[in-house]
Parts: sequence; C-alpha cells; structure tokens
Amino acid sequence: MPAVNKKLQTRANQVCKCFEVSQDLILRGVDYFIDSCERGLETDDDPTALMMIPTYVTSIPTGHEQGVLLAVDLGGTNFRVVSVTLKGDHTFSLVQAKSPIPLDMMSGTSAMLFQWMSEKIDKFLKTHHSDSLKEGNNFKMGFTFSFPVKQKSLNSGTLTRWTKGFDVSDCVGKDVVALLQEHLDALKVPVTVGALANDTVGTLLARSYTGANKEGETIIGCIFGTGTNGAYAEDVSKIKKLPEDVRKHLKEAGVTQMVINTEWGSFDNQMKILPNTKWDQVVDKNSSNPGVHIFEKRVSGLYMGETLRVVLFDLWKEGLLFKDYATEEALPHRLTTPFNLDTEAMSLFEIDDSTGLKASELKLQQMLRLPTTTEERLVIQQLTRAIAHRSAYLAAIPISALLMKVGAFDGHHVEVDVGADGSVVEFYPGYRTMMRDAVSLTQLGPKGERRLHINISKDGSSVGAALCALSEE
Ligand code: BGC
Repeated sequence: MPAVNKKLQTRANQVCKCFEVSQDLILRGVDYFIDSCERGLETDDDPTALMMIPTYVTSIPTGHEQGVLLAVDLGGTNFRVVSVTLKGDHTFSLVQAKSPIPLDMMSGTSAMLFQWMSEKIDKFLKTHHSDSLKEGNNFKMGFTFSFPVKQKSLNSGTLTRWTKGFDVSDCVGKDVVALLQEHLDALKVPVTVGALANDTVGTLLARSYTGANKEGETIIGCIFGTGTNGAYAEDVSKIKKLPEDVRKHLKEAGVTQMVINTEWGSFDNQMKILPNTKWDQVVDKNSSNPGVHIFEKRVSGLYMGETLRVVLFDLWKEGLLFKDYATEEALPHRLTTPFNLDTEAMSLFEIDDSTGLKASELKLQQMLRLPTTTEERLVIQQLTRAIAHRSAYLAAIPISALLMKVGAFDGHHVEVDVGADGSVVEFYPGYRTMMRDAVSLTQLGPKGERRLHINISKDGSSVGAALCALSEE
C-alpha cells in the first residue's frame, strides 16, 4: 500500500476510535440518566437535571377508543395535517397532507409560521371535509408540537426553547396553542385546538392504542428522527414538582399516573459522561442552539450527517482527503456548508456493498457534487458506520434507564414494549439491532434485551395527538 494511503487509513482508524462507546460509559450513562430523571421530577431549578415535563396526560388508551379527529404535527422537517379515524379495535385509518417546512418559516416570526400552518389546515378541511364544513361543524384537533414546552394543562403550553434548527425567537415563552387558535380564528377555520402533545407522548399513546399488551405493556414512546426524545408514565406521587393544588385535584379525581416528557435530548448537557470529540464541538457551534441538547447532537438524524460532514472537512484540511481541491473556496459548497449532508445518504453509505462502492460514488456526486476515489469512499463508509454505531449505542442509555427506573421487568416472564417513531429508527439500516446490542450491555443484560420489543409506531405522533384530543372531551 502506498505510504499516503496508509496515512489516511491510520487517521481514519484513529477518528473511528474516538466514536467508540465502551460498556463502562453505557453503564455509567444509565445510572446518571436515572439520577437526572429523579432530580428533574423534584424541581425545575436544577440545570443539570432532565426537564421531565408533566404533560397532563393522565390516561393511556386501551385500543377501544373511537372517533374521527383532526391532528396537526409540527415536527423537525415536515408539517402534517391528518384526520384520524379511531375504529375502537386497535386500528385506525388516516388521511394526511404533508408539507416540508420551508426554511424561512423555521427562522422567521411566529405570525408567519402559525399563519402558514393555519392556511394548510384550512386547505386540508376544504379538500377532505367539505361536507362537514358545509354543515357548519366545528372540528376538535390535537396539536403535536415536537419541541420543549412547559405545560400547565392539556391544552396550553409555553415554548421553552427551539431545537432541530428552528429559531423563531418571538415565539419563545408564548403559548403555542393560543397562537395556533388565534390564527385559525382569524382565518375563520372552524377548529378548536383541544390538546397539545409532544411527539413522544403521541407515540406512547398511539402505540398503546394499536399494540396494547400484544408484546407487553408499552412503557416508553420515543423518537429517533431529526431529533430524539422519550416519554413514559410516572406515578403522580413521584412528580414532586407538581404544584400542590394540581396534586390535590389529581388525587381527588383518583388519578395516579401522568405522562412525563423527559426531553432526553438535553441529557447530560454538562458532558459528565457523554463523549465530546473535537468534531462534536464544531457541530454544536454550528447549531442553532449551542450548549444544549447535547445528547441529541450525538444521536439524532440532523446531527449524524453533520458530524460526518465536519469530520470529512477536517480530513480534507489535514490533506488526507479530496486532494484535488487546493482551497476551501474550491471545495463543493455542500461540504463546507453546515447541515448539508443528510442521514439518508449515510444510510446508503452504511450498506453499500457494490463493487468499488459505486452506489456511494453516485450519491456523493449527486448530493455533494464531490468526485471520490474508491479509497476515499471506503473511508467515508468506515466513518459513517462509526458515527451511526455511536448514535445507536448511546440511544440504548435512556431506553434502558427508563425501563429500570419504572421497574418494567419486575416479575416473572415480563415482556416490555417500546413504541418508536422517526426516520433514523425506522429507516437507518441496522439501527434497532445496534441499539439492542447496546441494551444487552446495560444493567438489563441480555435477559432484559431478549424481553424488550422495540416497535415502530408509524404515524404515532399524529394519532397520539388525536387520542389526546379525544381524552379531553
Ligand atoms: C425536541 C423534543 C422532540 C424531539 C423529537 C427534540 O429536539 O426537543 O421535544 O420530542 O426533538 O422530535
């Protein structure tokens, strides 16, 4: 092998080593995650704790719920308007309109964003429910809003901060339900926003509805997509930070559990346990929310691609890759511009077994306008696999920790279900298998891993919001 190749290979091996996740890190991560949950349930004033947001969702569906409801879902990448028919037998059907969120909406004003959303809802109703509109019906709607929101009731919540590249600054601190209702009313759209749900809460409810007890009780609803997060049901008695009057009211109503949105994207923002390579630091710096959601930046789809881009750019700077480009200006702009390499491309690099990695060559050429040699592509594949592997191994930490925290495996022959949604867990090749490998390395061990079922809850976040709106009736 020529000397220069050896240099590249040695460096690539070194970089990959930095993305390795040891069993020791996983074990410590699980303990620290449980500790961060406990502290987050006590108070909102501990910046090192998880946010552990009480959602005011106090019942989990049985699968027998019925009704036709509207739901809208503002996720990381798309806005969806959905009408869901819950059939009462664990099944549902839905009609949906999906629109990619335009970049200018992600960083404009709240008026622009909520007006745009209201127009989409209006259009959807005119297209799919014109008869009901003519009859003068009012529609009840669930609102999935996949960002950290402080809730005071099921149908109100103020935005704490944006994540996943959003930066509509005048919206922070405002009630997002009131904002949506205001814009719907202004357009005379006959819709009442009845419930606000995080996408993980929606996923938990939707999976409980469709999968109820098929493979054990659904304990967690989680998302591994553009962002990452999870929700679970907690004993009200353990949510110490709930105001006294709320606790009293719940007690009187006989309510014992409430769903908690953990916002685990912000696990270990202080990086007590989490890895922090020099490339992670650049990714964080280039993000719209530096210093927070540190776990998300090592795990979710938006950041996996960005991490690979940053590493490739660095290897170019070291003179090891893409040597035909003498200056930064000459490099294809997609390689020098943050967030221009997506996880979909990584999925292809991950499993490319074509001769000379020809499929990757094409993708790199089309997507980045970047001609590559076989040797460069092999290195790109190696780096891709290291970054995805780290993501999946870290993803096992919150899942295992929450299962341990609620004692999900207590008792004999217990099986446990986790509902998951999001592009990474659904489409990234081998992601769930890698996650399971890492679960077997946690305190749960191979026995826990064998009893765990991670099921994709397709359309979970929207269906769950509809279920929330139903429970509000
Ligand atoms: C948000 C969460 C959301 C997750 C998955 C994160 O960036 O903070 O609220 O659940 O993405 O969409």
